[in-house]
Amino acid sequence: MSQPVSETSLTGIKPTGEPHLGNFVGAIRPALELTKQYESIYFIADYHALTTIRDPKLLRHYTRSVAATWLAAGLDPSRTVMYRQSDIPEIFELHWALSCVTAKGLMNRAHAYKAARDKNAATGREDLDAGINMGLYNYPVLMAVDILIMESDVVPVGKDQVQHVEYAADIAGSFNHLYGDSYEFKIPKAIVPEADTGRTLPGLDGRKMSKSYDNTIPLFLPEAQLRKLVRRIPTDSTPVEAPKDPDSSAVFQILQQFATQDVITDTRKRLMAGGVGWGELKNQLFEVLNQEITPLRERYHALMEPDSELDALLAEGAQRARERAQRVLRSVRSAIGIDTER
Ligand code: ADP
Ligand code: TRP
Repeated sequence: MSQPVSETSLTGIKPTGEPHLGNFVGAIRPALELTKQYESIYFIADYHALTTIRDPKLLRHYTRSVAATWLAAGLDPSRTVMYRQSDIPEIFELHWALSCVTAKGLMNRAHAYKAARDKNAATGREDLDAGINMGLYNYPVLMAVDILIMESDVVPVGKDQVQHVEYAADIAGSFNHLYGDSYEFKIPKAIVPEADTGRTLPGLDGRKMSKSYDNTIPLFLPEAQLRKLVRRIPTDSTPVEAPKDPDSSAVFQILQQFATQDVITDTRKRLMAGGVGWGELKNQLFEVLNQEITPLRERYHALMEPDSELDALLAEGAQRARERAQRVLRSVRSAIGIDTER
């Protein structure tokens, strides 16, 4: 009997900074879990990062760093596909074709573009488009192409990216309406792992851990610095002997994402009973984190070496992704009436 064909999940990661514990818990770990259920594809959206990163050295570094992070975290390149967006020229050809079936009004309503205009309005700028580049404006079309060219069924994203996946569905719908007799794009759906309760990690100031708040604990810090940052997680002034509410503690919230169920249950009991100070809890969190992260950190640094297998793995991923992209682009070209042989 033939196996049922599984659905495809596509994860795109923008290389704009060093990954932190929040990214690991809210994005990396859940996306890697999906390999059990879906045919999984991961890519590094380096051309999307270009809308904000203008330092070529930094873009190069973050691009390798994202790939190394996901591999260190357990991405298995023999069971999944991982590639760099910029290695797939078909994406940029389809970008033009899909731009031509995308309503400009749709782009005018995109959250990121609207937020940039609102910021200009708030600061009294006369030109509401001041400082906004066409990359930011076209960003949702490029993202739609990333999704559609891989024939993705589901796209795991944070809440802020759901609109973009809806736009991809919308753009696919416009194309299908015009050309659906020849070729139909799959209509993708967003899934939001972070919406599963308790996956939003607090940062060093108690707010959501985020690069934009500068309150993160980077995933692959050297051990001594990891210990130092764990010590900086805010706590209240409840004395050591007093009972404590685990659920209002940022330290406990982070511990919950990394410790085993037995350790979590036991720590919860001990906190509620009193006699455990925040300092002791922080030591425990450091030990748990360090134990989980150390093997990943070692693998990450090995992959970041200039002659590691990282670049060969990316080249192999690109080849497999291109085969897929070429198949779709060929159908699209034929559907729209561009018949150049290639
Ligand atoms: P940042 O807020 O640091 O810029 P991004 O917006 O690049 O992070 O987020 C990348 C992914 O990591 C998204 O899927 C997002 O939902 C997830 N993520 C980011 N911060 C957290 C957090 N504090 N807790 C859980 N998930 C997070
Ligand atoms: N826009 C996404 C982000 O900022 C990154 C991204 C680009 C992406 N293309 C994608 C995510 C395609 C999923 C699918 O995080």
